[in-house]
Amino acid sequence: MSELSVLRVADVTKQYHLPTTIVSKLLHSKNEHTGLTALDGIELQLNKGEILALVGESGSGKSTLAKILVGSTAPSSGEIEYNGSPIPSRRDKADSRRIQMVFQDPYSSLNPRIPVGSMLRELLLLHKIVPRNEVRSESIRLLNLVGLEEDALDAYPNQFSGGQRQRIAIARALSVRPDVLIADEPVSALDVSVQATILDLFSELQRELGLSILFVAHNLAVVQHLSQRVAVMYLGRIVEVAETAELFKNPKHPYTRALIESIPRMSAESVNDEFQLEGEPPSPFDVPAGCRFNPRCPWAVSSCRVTDPRLIPISPRHESACLRADELDDPRGTAAAISTA
Ligand SMILES: Nc1ncnc2c1ncn2[C@@H]1O[C@H](COP(=O)(O)OP(=O)(O)OP(=O)(O)O)[C@@H](O)[C@H]1O
Ligand code: SF4
Ligand SMILES: [Mg+2]
Repeated sequence: MSELSVLRVADVTKQYHLPTTIVSKLLHSKNEHTGLTALDGIELQLNKGEILALVGESGSGKSTLAKILVGSTAPSSGEIEYNGSPIPSRRDKADSRRIQMVFQDPYSSLNPRIPVGSMLRELLLLHKIVPRNEVRSESIRLLNLVGLEEDALDAYPNQFSGGQRQRIAIARALSVRPDVLIADEPVSALDVSVQATILDLFSELQRELGLSILFVAHNLAVVQHLSQRVAVMYLGRIVEVAETAELFKNPKHPYTRALIESIPRMSAESVNDEFQLEGEPPSPFDVPAGCRFNPRCPWAVSSCRVTDPRLIPISPRHESACLRADELDDPRGTAAAISTA
């Protein structure tokens, strides 16, 4: 483990078991599958003080991993380490305080019946963050930190706009002085006009508080100027991890290449555009043999239908799970790759 790691995900797997009737309806058949593997052998490290982006198509397992990291869902196997020590599956108050979540939808994540000041007060006292006589000043400090004024203390969440509510949700997460924020698509429910201001807030919080942030997004364009590193997910696996500039310049997995190539087709302003890749969308009920990306991969060769590639280093600080990673900078490009398949 690197000395810089604040969180480490070690061989984490998550299976969901579904009643047969629901599964049958989903599959429109009498298929006998009763479980799906949402995460399969995830290895990932969040370094101290960095923003790490987690990007992938819908259903790839991003939220499942986020929930496991904050302890709201237990992994089926594997471990989460915090500062080099395993976090117990039943987290105590101190363990759960250190890793906080910011959700996608600030409308449903805040209780509409509790004024902002009371919400912050309750957390500050529960976790003994400051003495009782400093609760008000600490609450004001938190609001200022996220760009809100003191008068927000007496207001209810429904008196705010979406962007302001997300700021309140971030203040709530920060109130217990976490080391790590897990942000699961925190701007995708917001108006396009306020998305950039909330992204800027995450950058400021990283700089000013030294927070480590895992930032989940659909759209690679959103994280290009926000994150220091990117992890790309596909069907329950991390398929590529690299520093952001390196990933954009030199992608070493065909899925990452497709994500990057799709950026010009998406509108520059919105984070809600979802990348669409040709071919059947992946089903966690029916994971292809060999490389799970092979049915959609223009670079696939016969060995890809047999060998299941795992994430391996291809250069310092750059890992890929592709059997042909070394050939991907071939200037002949994708068309030539298809003809070799
Ligand atoms: N509670 C659950 N019970 C059963 N299956 C689940 C559950 N939660 C998630 N899944 C399944 O696990 C897989 C991963 O889901 P997850 O929500 O983690 O993906 P995601 O990458 O966050 O997708 P999105 O971008 O749409 O938010 C999907 O196939 C999903 O249907
Ligand atoms: S291993 Fe083969 S199928 Fe998988 S991404 Fe690489 S080239 Fe494509
Ligand atoms: Mg999700």
